Amino acid sequence: MKGVLLAAGLGTRLKPLTLATSKMLVPVYDKPMILHALNTLVCSGVTQVLVVIGRDNCEGIIKLIGDGSDWGVKASYVVQNERKGTANAVLQAERFVNGDKFVVMAGDNVFQDCFKKELDSFKKSKFNGMLFLKKVSDPSRYGVAEVNGNKILKIVEKPKAPKSNLAITGLYFLDSSVFDYIKKITPSERGEYEITDLFSHLALQNQLSYSIIENYWSDVGTIQSLTEASHYFSTLSKKL
Ligand code: DAU
Repeated sequence: MKGVLLAAGLGTRLKPLTLATSKMLVPVYDKPMILHALNTLVCSGVTQVLVVIGRDNCEGIIKLIGDGSDWGVKASYVVQNERKGTANAVLQAERFVNGDKFVVMAGDNVFQDCFKKELDSFKKSKFNGMLFLKKVSDPSRYGVAEVNGNKILKIVEKPKAPKSNLAITGLYFLDSSVFDYIKKITPSERGEYEITDLFSHLALQNQLSYSIIENYWSDVGTIQSLTEASHYFSTLSKKL
């Protein structure tokens, strides 16, 4: 199974931690955040990972992950020349994906769970995409999904007045048909090619399934969520 790890973030909200190093190398408890994301891919059954890196501060990421063998995967890299948004980052993986189904993971997301069972059933399903949603108290920070039964009705990126509390986490299962649509996406108000535009399209076509995560998840892109996640993993390690 192939995985695409999005690691070209600037980490503006984590300054000064990210002034001299990549956001991806900032620790969440006992390891750089990107290793949490990589571990989730590996424990979900991903064996080949393409890491999407930016031009700045990418050396440390390559030094850490190397060819992937230390972490149980085969790793390769592609440079996203400009930070044009998550959809543009995923597009860099078209050749690597080469017609297969694949997993996308945002390098700043940390999960408690592995997703092997869900990945096995997605491989057999007719859906072009699958999302993992999490009930949150502050949905305006995220992409938000409105659902009814098994169906995703609507997706809105960082809504001012969210219609649900279901945040879209940074883990997506996709198939290669999505690249044609990704190429048609136009920049959002914040000037980025948003992956949520793809999800809105797939939802309209009834081609998007979802699962709600009950266990821990966090987007560690802010100092507060980073600190909370470090605390969470430290208490988890005490329990083990
Ligand atoms: O974490 C979940 C959220 O991630 C979702 O709820 C949102 O729908 C989704 O748009 C995304 O929102 P963020 O604003 O948090 O995205 P961020 O800019 O932090 O980018 C997510 C990851 O993708 C991060 O690891 C950096 C990487 N990235 C981002 C951009 C804009 C790239 O590799 N290239 C890029 O151009």
